[in-house]
Amino acid sequence: MKVTISLIKADVGGYPGHATVHPRLIERAEEVLLHAVESGLLKDYHVTGVGDDLQLIMTHTKGVDSEEIHALAWDAFTKATEVAKDLKLYGAGQDLLKDAFSGNIRGMGPGIAEMEIEERKSEPIVAFMMDKTEPGAFNLPIFRMFADPFNTAGLVIDPNMSDGFRFEIWDIMEHKKVIMKTPEELYEILALIGAKSRFVIKRVYPSEKHPKIPADEPVAVVSTEKLYQIAGEYVGKDDPVALVRAQGGLPALGEVLEPFAFPHLVSGWMRGSHNGPIMPVGVKDAKCTRFDGPPRVVALGFQLARGRLVGPVDLFADAAFDEARRKALEIANYMRRHGPFEPHRLPLEDMEYTTLPKVMEKIRGRFQDL
Ligand code: F6R
Ligand code: MG
Ligand code: MG
Repeated sequence: MKVTISLIKADVGGYPGHATVHPRLIERAEEVLLHAVESGLLKDYHVTGVGDDLQLIMTHTKGVDSEEIHALAWDAFTKATEVAKDLKLYGAGQDLLKDAFSGNIRGMGPGIAEMEIEERKSEPIVAFMMDKTEPGAFNLPIFRMFADPFNTAGLVIDPNMSDGFRFEIWDIMEHKKVIMKTPEELYEILALIGAKSRFVIKRVYPSEKHPKIPADEPVAVVSTEKLYQIAGEYVGKDDPVALVRAQGGLPALGEVLEPFAFPHLVSGWMRGSHNGPIMPVGVKDAKCTRFDGPPRVVALGFQLARGRLVGPVDLFADAAFDEARRKALEIANYMRRHGPFEPHRLPLEDMEYTTLPKVMEKIRGRFQDL
């Protein structure tokens, strides 16, 4: 049976400031999606909040980029925005950058990760949701899951995986994409995705020789929307999400989670202008408090059952990630001590997309030739 999983998110108002999603926004979105299950449009859904982002996890049989599904998500965000406006939440409707829905939610502000798959005999899937960072924050963990034998033992000891994976990498400045293959092109892939503000992993596919998964079915997908490109000005970071399938010839659940035991540095955090560690947390700790962060990542695990979402299990709400959280806080302290200095503050090229140019404008006229 073919099933599509759509994870669509937007910041339609924070509470307080940019810290969390108000429970009434979640309730409002749930009402809209419940109605869609009753009408037969959706198979199932789960709504949650990560930082200030409202997250809609939906299953259906309409395929990716379905106008009906995108319109439904837009409707849920619009109705949640009405609640946000009534409660005067911060930045109500912030990520809805267009006034009216026009066929596809792409390019309208929300972030989207979708995949259509043939549901396997057993289909474990993880929804990853990050706040206060950008799509390139997924490069390192997704690479580790599918290409690093020091992370994923299955690459070494499960023959189903020995032919590797194919990575679809997007150049988000030039609007081009390239498919590259592991293990043959490991070094070239790293040459690109190490530059995470420009080259981002969009999808991972199995190798053409994978014995269990069809070559055209993604095994991972990441949202790559860049808000400043859509809005033409800084409206917060892009706060990416991803879907990753696990087990049975793919990385095991534990191999999918393992990269997050290392709280790597990502850009975002306060005013979308700082490098800091990404901290794996459970949903209850997904609130961006300290210096509007530090950036967070939540992982919700499900089993699909004929399109039904069995779960979630809040995977980082576990003692096994305590050490990563402690390390993240230690790194956060260290980075914060730099105040407004690089490399805590982002390099100037990246600051171009924040409010800094307005500050520069004020002093421009006072510069004299040397
Ligand atoms: C980061 C983020 C926040 C805001 C900050 C200032 O993505 O959204 O850190 O940039 O709270 O917000 P304003 O300028 O709205 O007061
Ligand atoms: Mg916000
Ligand atoms: Mg956010």
